[in-house]
Amino acid sequence: MKDPINFSEATEILYQGEDYSQLLKPEAAPIYVTTAFNMGDLDDVQKTYDQKGYTYIRTRNPNRRSLGDLISFLEKGKRTLICSSGMAAITTTYFALLNPGDHFLVNENIYGETFDAINIFLKKMHVDVDYVDFSDLTAVKKAIKDNTRIVYTEVASNPTDRLADIAALADIAHEKHALMMVDNTFTTPIAIKPLSLGADIVINSLTKFINGHSDALLGSITVKDDNLFDTIHSIRMLTGTSGSPFATWLVYRGIHTLDLRVRKQMKNAALLANTLAKHPKILHVNHPALDNFPQKELADKLFKDKYTMTGMLSFEMPNDHSKINAFMNRLHIAHYAPTLGGIRTTLSHPLHSSHYHVPKDELKKMGISYGLMRISTGIEDADDLIADFTQALSVFDD
Ligand SMILES: Cc1ncc(COP(=O)(O)O)c(C=O)c1O
Repeated sequence: MKDPINFSEATEILYQGEDYSQLLKPEAAPIYVTTAFNMGDLDDVQKTYDQKGYTYIRTRNPNRRSLGDLISFLEKGKRTLICSSGMAAITTTYFALLNPGDHFLVNENIYGETFDAINIFLKKMHVDVDYVDFSDLTAVKKAIKDNTRIVYTEVASNPTDRLADIAALADIAHEKHALMMVDNTFTTPIAIKPLSLGADIVINSLTKFINGHSDALLGSITVKDDNLFDTIHSIRMLTGTSGSPFATWLVYRGIHTLDLRVRKQMKNAALLANTLAKHPKILHVNHPALDNFPQKELADKLFKDKYTMTGMLSFEMPNDHSKINAFMNRLHIAHYAPTLGGIRTTLSHPLHSSHYHVPKDELKKMGISYGLMRISTGIEDADDLIADFTQALSVFDD
């Protein structure tokens, strides 16, 4: 018991009011907008540290914990770290696990800014990097070394949907005691669970399909191993790449409708890809549900069915700047936005956005040309979406 003291109003203004946290049982998740959590005496401080309880926002936060637990469940992992962006999830993992002299083996078909981060940061860290086409497993086996620490790929590459055989790659990595790290952003844990196929680390840009509402920037790192989690957690704390409570709260709200949204988005992508593939003026369409998809056998092995693959497709129009502009201006529903995974259909031009800094010869290898447009399908009615694209593509008729 403490003796009562009469404090001034200026002090009381800080302490009066209900202790709401102990009384309420809200139906929706509350948001913990606090930089720190109170502790009593030094014994309580020690107990909180021992129990890995809540102390300071950069270390732990209840909103991140709830979202992390849900993502661990979806990805069939053990622990998940929530980071300030997808790029934060990727780079924090690199900082935590790579040392000078390590070898990093990466698929040559990846998101442009991941490519930039590897070239800038890993070079600075004196990590030896090799890019290989991961659709060629013999080439991967040839390129892996005794000092390979991480083998890195996206399940379906941004923006061409080139697929990686996660189980086979994980076997190759594990033979050399390397870690298999997978970016599941394009495919989501609804379509595939890379950790169940042998991967050790799965990252997601939560900014995309998992949030789905295009209003928050966040990323996640999910692992199966406690030691790996602790190693990355301590570096995440020091790099300060922890996700903010507000962004985490928004994504936690969005993720509850993931199953409903993403299944429709993936089906819409498959249906739209199929229509575009038949269009006489379109040179090429990239989506794993297409009958002529070059890795069809792998697509059937990785995914349950053709409507549960990815909500992302890309297609190549003739290299005609003014007609591409006319096509974009004619669309009613789909609109340009350099993001993906939202509930409304968006398009982006990889050469002007995700792959802006990638050198020309690398772009060629990645299958990215001036006429290539990337589409992220939303939850619109599929017939409306197809009709909109079909009428806008009439600009190529004359
Ligand atoms: C495949 C992929 N991984 C990671 C990222 C990075 O995510 P964020 O923008 O949340 O940093 C992106 C962004 O577009 C992406 O497409």
